[in-house]
Amino acid sequence: ASDAPAAALLLGWYDRHARALPWRVSPAAFRRGARPDPYRVWLSEVMLQQTTVAAVKSYFERFTSRWPSVEALAQAPADEVMAAWAGLGYYARARNLHACAKAVAAEHGGRFPRTAEGLKRLPGIGDYTGAAIAAIAFGERVAVVDGNVERVVSRLHAIEIPLPKSRPAIRAHVDAMTPASRPGDFAQAMMDLGATICTPRRPACAICPVRPLCTAQAKNEQDRFPVKLPK
Ligand code: ADE
Repeated sequence: ASDAPAAALLLGWYDRHARALPWRVSPAAFRRGARPDPYRVWLSEVMLQQTTVAAVKSYFERFTSRWPSVEALAQAPADEVMAAWAGLGYYARARNLHACAKAVAAEHGGRFPRTAEGLKRLPGIGDYTGAAIAAIAFGERVAVVDGNVERVVSRLHAIEIPLPKSRPAIRAHVDAMTPASRPGDFAQAMMDLGATICTPRRPACAICPVRPLCTAQAKNEQDRFPVKLPK
């Protein structure tokens, strides 16, 4: 499989099948010039770090109703933020969330840094989250790689090197695939593909937009990938 045509197929599929999620701007609205709110993108990505989309939705709505901007969240009392987070788990995330809001408000004039590099200097923002926010909120052409994306790429290229050793090769493929136009939609198309079609078990290859490019599927070996080191 080569890398460039995959982006066009994935974006075309995303135009038709993107999940409507409260922090997203639909592809149609994006085409009309709408852009996602960086505060909402950041909040959703932090909430999604160890929690499913289904569980995050109601928390996201409650946080954004109560604290509609990063300044509002920065000014909230810590105990109220912790109480609103209760149930999402991994409470260090909530403490980092509040610290990050305060840093953006106090040190960045209420505006998030626009690059993955700048974002990663903030509390609670690592490689994945920094890249996701930069691509989705600011259109930076940067590779966004999570576990779902690792699985998709391992299958597309039938990568025989086991995870985690294959990570640098996977990252290089994602970097080569990521388009300069709509890198955020591309990243979210990869996430949606991994969540709904290229699933860990019994992937739905019959309806996959990149099936024509998938080396594992061509050999009917999609279930063998990603190869993992024996535990
Ligand atoms: N998981 C993490 N970030 C996501 C996003 N922006 N859309 C869907 N699933 C995600």
